[in-house]
Amino acid sequence: MDSLDFVSPYLFKHKRRNFLVKDTLRPSDLDALQHIEIRPTDVFLITYPKSGTVWMQQILVQIMDAAHPEQAEDGHNRTRVPWLEERTADNPLRERPDPRIFGTHLPADMLPLGVKAEQSKAVYVWRNPKDILVSLYHFAHTWVLLETPKSFEGFFQQFLDGEVYMGSWFNHVQEYFAAQNQLNIHFVQYENMLKDLRGEVVKLCAFLEKDLTGEAIDHVVKMSSFNSMKTDPKANYKDLIEKGRYLGETMRKGVAGDWKNYLTVAQNERFDQVFRDKMSNSPLTCTWEID
Ligand code: A3P
Repeated sequence: MDSLDFVSPYLFKHKRRNFLVKDTLRPSDLDALQHIEIRPTDVFLITYPKSGTVWMQQILVQIMDAAHPEQAEDGHNRTRVPWLEERTADNPLRERPDPRIFGTHLPADMLPLGVKAEQSKAVYVWRNPKDILVSLYHFAHTWVLLETPKSFEGFFQQFLDGEVYMGSWFNHVQEYFAAQNQLNIHFVQYENMLKDLRGEVVKLCAFLEKDLTGEAIDHVVKMSSFNSMKTDPKANYKDLIEKGRYLGETMRKGVAGDWKNYLTVAQNERFDQVFRDKMSNSPLTCTWEID
């Protein structure tokens, strides 16, 4: 049994990142993931929490169903895009036909080594960290595995300090951008999907080498709209409410800029300062529209 480096009763630290005490994975299990068998046909969906994971799950499943109709399945997206660092009935290591899709929040240095060695395709979704902070704040009230924040201000500071689930957002994105020449990775920005979902789906299909008809692309876009997913039981995770794992809906607002309803002027200034300090060596400073 591994001894845990507790950050709180809910989180333990491993390799500078924070994992869930109430989940079943322990440091040795996380390390073992580096050695799982990876195939060149595998596709990895990688995100920092609350960046649009469930959205991209739906898009990838829809693209694969259109490209490989003989393999189209009826299951939940979480079964079809199983979570790497989770041991549930949807165990990611069970037998599945190619192309397999995996979801993960793991940082670049903890990915299975085969992702780089086999040059498997990886899709990294990133989002305005202020909106992530607000989304994660709500999610921490919803997911029973996370500690319910005592106050927004306290949670705000924990986020800036990287003392939340998975650790620092700033490190996560920067480490993936730094690793982009070693990985076969495609970056997608949440806000760009909001602005032009079809355009982003077209770019994704090109990256995934899936030649979809215009009609098939329209279908992917239609199935991946916020309103469609909200009522799609395979995509919206509402069954986890019945199972007692979520206390409410996780498809909350699905917009950009909700942080403006939460951050005070002073908090916003503090956030911008931390962003400038932590991202000063990053190419993201040039491209990121922080507001
Ligand atoms: P909000 O809490 O801001 O609404 P993740 O899947 O990584 O946990 O991210 C969850 C966030 O993605 C939530 O943000 C959720 O509403 C949003 N989301 C999920 N599906 C979406 C969609 N089809 N369009 C826009 N946002 C979506």
